[in-house]
Amino acid sequence: MGRKFFVGGNWKMNGTKESIDKIVDFLTKGPLDPNTEVVVGVSPCYLEYVRSKLPQTIGVAAQNCYKADSGAFTGEICPAMIKDCGCEWVILGHSERRNVFGETDQLIGEKVGFALKQGLKVVPCIGEQLEEREAGKTTEVCFRQLKAIADNVSDWSKVVIAYEPVWAIGTGKTASPEQAQEVHAAIRNWLAENVSAEVAESTRILYGGSVSAGNCRELAACPDIDGSLVGGASLKPDFVQIINATQ
Ligand code: PGA
Repeated sequence: MGRKFFVGGNWKMNGTKESIDKIVDFLTKGPLDPNTEVVVGVSPCYLEYVRSKLPQTIGVAAQNCYKADSGAFTGEICPAMIKDCGCEWVILGHSERRNVFGETDQLIGEKVGFALKQGLKVVPCIGEQLEEREAGKTTEVCFRQLKAIADNVSDWSKVVIAYEPVWAIGTGKTASPEQAQEVHAAIRNWLAENVSAEVAESTRILYGGSVSAGNCRELAACPDIDGSLVGGASLKPDFVQIINATQ
């Protein structure tokens, strides 16, 4: 069975009801390739609003959640709240969570495990910083981050990995298709060696980092790139072209 192409939109800390209505409008009009699975990641305060407005064929994700089901964790949300808002996905370990908010590999692994146990589907993110790439440590860093995640995964059918080189996020500097394909193949190989051949074959690995209408097709054409996680361009009508990148 082939891996269904997957495009995630990561709205980050953007959006008002007014601007969300415009996004809902272009996503509803599409037309969107029915062979692409689409999920948008929204701020917690708009989860329910977005869920109520978008067609059910488009998934809605939170951009983070904590690893407990309730309690004294001021400012946090839990998987049960995401589900209570009608949503079934969460993005975890985004580089901004790691690098702006100091989340560790261990915490991200624990969050992935907890969210899966609570019945969410998860998009865990990994990726190297520029200095790490320049020091030849790209795969070392990605494998370390991936191991902390994989150690907590019980059901890989609920996981879509996002590889996002930190130097490509929000910079307009996309990894070349060759650079991205090389790391995607290495990640898939790591899954084959450390999890199983079946999981390596069936798990979708997304590329993220300055994906645009202009570069999405050549990225999508790479054999180990199964879709994209899109920040800035997911707020614009261009997102439709990115969703349709394999048409
Ligand atoms: P970008 O963000 O597409 O704006 O580079 C990608 C991401 O952070 O997921």
